[in-house]
Amino acid sequence: MAFNLQGRNFLTLLDFSPEELAYLLTLSRNLKDKKRAGIKGDLLAGKNIALIFEKPSTRTRCAFVVAARDEGGYPEYLGKNDLQLGKKETVADTARVLGRMFDGIEFRGFKHQTVEGLAKYAGVPVWNGLTDLYHPTQVLADLLTIQENFGYLRGINLAYVGDGRNNMANSLMIGAAKMGLDYSIVAPRELWPENDLVDRCRAIAAENGSRIIVSDDPVQGVQGADVLYTDVWVSMGEEDKFAERIALLQPYQVNQAMLKNTGKEQVIFLHCLPAYHNTDTENGQKMLEEHGIKEMEVTEQVFESKNSKVFDQAENRMHTIKAVMVATLGK
Ligand code: CP
Ligand code: NVA
Repeated sequence: MAFNLQGRNFLTLLDFSPEELAYLLTLSRNLKDKKRAGIKGDLLAGKNIALIFEKPSTRTRCAFVVAARDEGGYPEYLGKNDLQLGKKETVADTARVLGRMFDGIEFRGFKHQTVEGLAKYAGVPVWNGLTDLYHPTQVLADLLTIQENFGYLRGINLAYVGDGRNNMANSLMIGAAKMGLDYSIVAPRELWPENDLVDRCRAIAAENGSRIIVSDDPVQGVQGADVLYTDVWVSMGEEDKFAERIALLQPYQVNQAMLKNTGKEQVIFLHCLPAYHNTDTENGQKMLEEHGIKEMEVTEQVFESKNSKVFDQAENRMHTIKAVMVATLGK
């Protein structure tokens, strides 16, 4: 069934019903098929799209750019030094100016209040490309990837292991609750999510026949998981916390033993990326020298295993972001 989401913002999955999210996933699959068939579209023809990035990005930026162009839209990248946003000019003024020129605005940055402020004043759809609190477009891609692998969502057991209070842990909890997946956050107590959000998600999950569990046991906590998900131990903007997180999170590394502890042969591994899984990068080298460890949230072995679906997941960013833009802005 088609839903009219024209003019809607996309700030958090909390704002969408399970039926609306299911519709966005169906639209994503259709747009993916269309792209695979080599069909260029015009669903965003004549639409100018502002892409504001306070933080770096590979997937989200490229997904918005390619998705917009595939459907005839014109994306404009505005990096952290390109705007006066929040410094010389208020969020409200920036929103009112951009809203007069653009048809839709993506924002990636620090404070969730900034994307809410843009949405309040822009008068055009605003999409959250990641804030400190939520990363909703990522979760749409994750749900699509899970659906592609298992054929369904309801009843899937998803265990998120690692920093249990970051934007990914939060948004996955909401997405799982809305779509009826059982969701476990497996993390040390110091990194458990806010109680308010857990309570809210538990109430949503109960309506959709699923459960939210928060555990600090890296063995018991992953038992029965169909999907093992992790994210970086230190999110953008928290770089001073490396030593603290390494000390807390080493028992929560996703490795071969953890995969085995799920008891599920067909378990898949997901990670929103970028991932630390080897020392080939400049940061990886630094980590090895400073902290004396070779691997962090996921081992090279798991990352490169047949269970790992991380690049399907990355590709799905583009199809799902296209669906969000088309549904809220397109013809
Ligand atoms: N997963 C994700 O949001 O990746 P980027 O930071 O590269 O956009
Ligand atoms: N939690 C990570 C997600 C990156 C896509 C961060 O915010 O840096």
